[in-house]
Amino acid sequence: MLNVFKLKSAIVLWMILITSAVCSQKPGDQGISSSDKVKLETLLNTMTLDEKIGQLSLFSSGWDVNGPTLDDNYKRLIREGKAGAILNAYTVDYVRSLQRIAVEESRLKIPLIFGFDVIHGHRTIFPVPLAQSCSWDLASIEESERIAALEATAEGLNWTYAPMVDITRDPRWGRVVEGAGEDTWLGCKIAAARVHGFQGKDLKDNHTLLACAKHFAAYGAPQAGREYNTVDMSMLSLYEWYLPTYKACVDAGVGSIMTSFNEISGVPSTSNKWLLTDLLRQSWGFKGFIVTDYTAINELIPHGIATDLEEAARLALNAGVDMDMQGSAYLNSLADLLRNKKITMKQIDDAVSAVLRAKFQLGLFDDPYRYCNKECQEKEVMTPQNQAFARKFVAESCVLLKNQKQTLPIPATVRTIALIGPLADSKKDMLGNWSAAGEWEKCVSLLEGIRNRVNHEVTVIYEKGCNIDDPDKTGFDNALKAASSADYIILAVGEEREMTGEASSRSNIDLPGVQNDLAEIIIGTGKLVAVVLFNGRPLTITKLNTLAPAILETWYGGTQAGNGIADVLFGDYNPSGKLTMTFPRNTGQIPIFYNSKNTGRPYNPEKPDEVNVSRYTDVSNDPLFPFGYGLSYTSFAYSDLHADTTGDKLSIHVQVTNTGKRDGEEVVQLYVQDKVGSITRPVKELKGFQKVMIKSGESKSLTFSLDKDELSFYHPDLKKYWEPGEFVFYVGTNSAETLSKSITVKH
Ligand code: BGC
Repeated sequence: MLNVFKLKSAIVLWMILITSAVCSQKPGDQGISSSDKVKLETLLNTMTLDEKIGQLSLFSSGWDVNGPTLDDNYKRLIREGKAGAILNAYTVDYVRSLQRIAVEESRLKIPLIFGFDVIHGHRTIFPVPLAQSCSWDLASIEESERIAALEATAEGLNWTYAPMVDITRDPRWGRVVEGAGEDTWLGCKIAAARVHGFQGKDLKDNHTLLACAKHFAAYGAPQAGREYNTVDMSMLSLYEWYLPTYKACVDAGVGSIMTSFNEISGVPSTSNKWLLTDLLRQSWGFKGFIVTDYTAINELIPHGIATDLEEAARLALNAGVDMDMQGSAYLNSLADLLRNKKITMKQIDDAVSAVLRAKFQLGLFDDPYRYCNKECQEKEVMTPQNQAFARKFVAESCVLLKNQKQTLPIPATVRTIALIGPLADSKKDMLGNWSAAGEWEKCVSLLEGIRNRVNHEVTVIYEKGCNIDDPDKTGFDNALKAASSADYIILAVGEEREMTGEASSRSNIDLPGVQNDLAEIIIGTGKLVAVVLFNGRPLTITKLNTLAPAILETWYGGTQAGNGIADVLFGDYNPSGKLTMTFPRNTGQIPIFYNSKNTGRPYNPEKPDEVNVSRYTDVSNDPLFPFGYGLSYTSFAYSDLHADTTGDKLSIHVQVTNTGKRDGEEVVQLYVQDKVGSITRPVKELKGFQKVMIKSGESKSLTFSLDKDELSFYHPDLKKYWEPGEFVFYVGTNSAETLSKSITVKH
């Protein structure tokens, strides 16, 4: 009788648990329903040690001419329950075939997660992330990730290794192309927008991707900009500038985090317990799972922190790493480590639970094939709507660096355009680095974009002139001939797409090869010339800048590059992009960034002959183009800056007038300087912006509202609070050209 009663109570309890399934948490914060929690516990109790370790192991699909392929050895691992996730595998049939092995042939039928580097689009490729950040358009950035998620999930994927939110001040580092530039405040806003775009409101939705913030932490600060190099910085810099973007992802509910390859203060991130457990999990409350970067556990050996793979695996698990990417370190070592009591079963269980929770969140236990829908693959990828959005986003991401004598937009009277340069008809380079499943054949080159735009009255002549990185000048003659027969010249120069991205640090970041020489002879013709730049990092284009009357920075625009750039060149879109990374004059100025300190002996441009001040003797301190810089085909005037405080709020008001002849968008930027603090503060810090459309002749009054808390900064005890006193508010069109207003802010 009692037993029956107990059984009934248990059933009632079970039913309550199931029916009260709560899905109230943010997507990605690993909240799962009570019924899923029960299933997870049951599963965990059923798993063998090998199966548990399998869930912590991630392997890469290989590639051949037909697309991704998986080694038979990995197929065996899936069958034996020794692989929990696969990266680089996509397309519905292929993903389905691997998932089928997991859920039909493995003992416990645990579904796989499928991850891929969907960094700036999946099939429809958008401008590279650095370019996107120059749009200062958070809604477009979020929308691009939503479309990327839609296309990637339509091809069987459910996890992306993005967003990359590493703050960086060194353009020699090739991975600047993947980030949002140098500013932490803007970086946080963009990071959150990307997480929301990928993850949507519900990870179970078949069109959302689990995001992975990377590379935790401070990967963007390698010494001398050299890839994988040591990172060494003060705790204050780490907290103030380098950590907040990852925290912004955690606050936005990101479901996974990737460790970085670098060390911080002598401890590689992948074995850094303080970083992964104390800070990320305990202090920030991150509830997702932590994956290493590619073979990062194995790399603890050359780092000199582990003698062998077993020790490396122990350090990583102890630090808090849940999943081993491609290293087989967990697969080969955790069982022995457990046997020898160097790790505990609880540590393994915690890691496995984190991974399984993500699988429940993604709805993979309900339907392991939910991302494998042939119809979606056919209908939702590369749609005309996605192309239209991509084209607009290209135009929005371009930055007009120079425009003397109104060289741009191209006058309607022009009848012959010579398009010259090694990037003028390059489809491949348009993709930029990390182009996921983007197909270069489908990219619109600049030449095609221009031909699409002009009518039969305009002749377009194309000459390559030279290769991107090659000393050969034999093409110069034909380029000159083409230039002489045209009444307008567009010169397309820059870097190859592979010159930025992972492992693509450069010590010389000027135009490669003989492109400056080509520019010299073409611009020397005295004709109207507009330079169109393609590159994935700020370049030291000091020479080009003295030669060229007009320069349009277009980065790598992706699938619709040529069309979007043509929209800007012909004035169908009035450029509004602003740099999110400073352009140095030469590499000797690096690191160069706008939010630097004043020093005790600041250089005063009004006293250029002053000695013993903080300056170079051979180059000025100021950059070629400052952070926030970018021109428009119209002009804007700023006036009436004033600020007031009410309670805990600060209000900063400004009037912006479009003084030119075209309607245009302006990114109005607000910077703050804390004049005197208990520790020194930067000369300026971005604290707000508004991107506004202002009609020709129109004035707009804008107000920025700040909480006093937004004046806070980290102190030596790593606590964040603000100090009353004098603050200067700067509002303007870029970080160097502003109006300013000083006010005293009291507690
Ligand atoms: C990169 C990561 C990337 C991973 C998987 C690594 O080499 O550093 O950013 O997500 O490969 O492709």
